[in-house]
Amino acid sequence: KRVVVFISGGGSNMMALLKATAAPDYPAEIVAVIADKADAGGLAKAAAEGIATFALVRKDFTSKDAHEEAILSQLEALSPDIICLAGYMRLLSGRFIQRYEGRIINIHPSLLPLFPGLHTHQRAIDAGMRVAGCTVHFVTEGMDEGPVIGQAAVPVLTGDTADALAARVLTVEHQLYPQSLRLLAEGKVGMEDGKAISLART
Ligand code: GRF
Repeated sequence: KRVVVFISGGGSNMMALLKATAAPDYPAEIVAVIADKADAGGLAKAAAEGIATFALVRKDFTSKDAHEEAILSQLEALSPDIICLAGYMRLLSGRFIQRYEGRIINIHPSLLPLFPGLHTHQRAIDAGMRVAGCTVHFVTEGMDEGPVIGQAAVPVLTGDTADALAARVLTVEHQLYPQSLRLLAEGKVGMEDGKAISLART
């Protein structure tokens, strides 16, 4: 399966995906990385691994629509089967999502549906949570809302700062994302009637 990864930042999840997909028995390969920021740190990392990279910056376009149009036409050329959002800090429109219905997944650093959106680690600490974690889910129109494919948990430790918790969660993100992508690429999970369903034959 052909995968395009969308990033806005450092791209450590993208690198974890790249490392996993490089294994000979992995059912998907990353064909390109698209960023919405010209200086996204992950772009250089992907390029250093020989992956095609594209920066499509929002301010270079007159509207959100025009920006998405540019991304969509780039995608036409890449013909991905699956799009992985990995720290991509923009909400995709319904039109965009429909074009790749059930084929866009995202990682969010909380145990959704708890703590969608920003400042998720601080909110988990403030809420007195004793576990935290991350979620890979299908992308639907709401932010961090789509059906869950997989989750991983870590403890919240006494005295944790948001940064300390973020770092602990990130280590399990790097394991969960490749596992979840594998399930989708192998056709073992899919989205039906707005729910994630297991398609695995047992
Ligand atoms: C990760 O915590 C991801 O879950 C969140 O943004 C962060 C991106 O980190 N949505 P990286 O760019 O993958 O290093």
